[in-house]
Amino acid sequence: MDVLKTVAELRDWNRANGGNRPRVLVPTMGALHDGHLSLCDIARKKAGMTGTIVTTIFVNPTQFGPNEDLDAYPRPLEADLEKCRSHGVDAVFAPSDNSEIYASDASISISETSLSNHLCGASRPTHFSGVCTVVAKLFNLTQPDAAVFGEKDFQQLAIIRRLVRDLNLPVEIIAGTTVRESDGLAMSSRNAYLSPQARAQAPIIRQALGHAAATIQQGKFDESIGLVRKTIESAPLAKIDYIEIVDAETLQPISNLESGRPARIAAAVFFGKTRLIDNIGVEF
Ligand code: PAF
Repeated sequence: MDVLKTVAELRDWNRANGGNRPRVLVPTMGALHDGHLSLCDIARKKAGMTGTIVTTIFVNPTQFGPNEDLDAYPRPLEADLEKCRSHGVDAVFAPSDNSEIYASDASISISETSLSNHLCGASRPTHFSGVCTVVAKLFNLTQPDAAVFGEKDFQQLAIIRRLVRDLNLPVEIIAGTTVRESDGLAMSSRNAYLSPQARAQAPIIRQALGHAAATIQQGKFDESIGLVRKTIESAPLAKIDYIEIVDAETLQPISNLESGRPARIAAAVFFGKTRLIDNIGVEF
């Protein structure tokens, strides 16, 4: 596995490996867990024997708000590289410095003005602009044919599909289903911040979403959000940031299920300073 620390090294690697297609990208911020590694496995299936997998590890500063966890974000690079190696990744691009990605006087960024108005975009107003900008840069830098993103970040996935559509980027977007701990908690690099008490309570998010999906499927749409709220509030350390039911494609809030249109129930919940997100699909 090649480890590339600079844009110049990456460009050399691209030239040397130009014919090994398809090239499949797995973009990450590191602190890799089984959820990320399942994305690498999906990438391998897509790449086949002739193709290559490139994983990027970059804690992107522009997607963190001023009071968020940029400095505290875990950066266990050596352990991450070992995990990539054991999952058949061909090259890791792990820029040694932010200046590899952002010029100090960078003045161009990408903004999304519709899908990011609700859910995480409402509480993190600059987040998706940072995500769109860095993902477009990573696509330009790594030149993939396809890229794999996890469904836990459902809003991010929808926005990246829109990014690719609206900027005519020649990259196929592949979704990976959420990987969960045995008690249902969605895997996330941020789970490592949870105190033992918070960790014990956090699976309530998935339980609440599951009950709500079942309630909607029984035709009781109006009761569902109240049910999620009540269930999550039964955990003493949980503070709800949002719970919304949205159209799975437009991400706009809905007040009933239109037959045939998939919907998503999504929640963000604080345990102390740690903000966890999860979502579940509802379909008729
Ligand atoms: O999902 C993530 O880890 C990040 O948002 C991404 C897509 C790697 C962009 O920094």
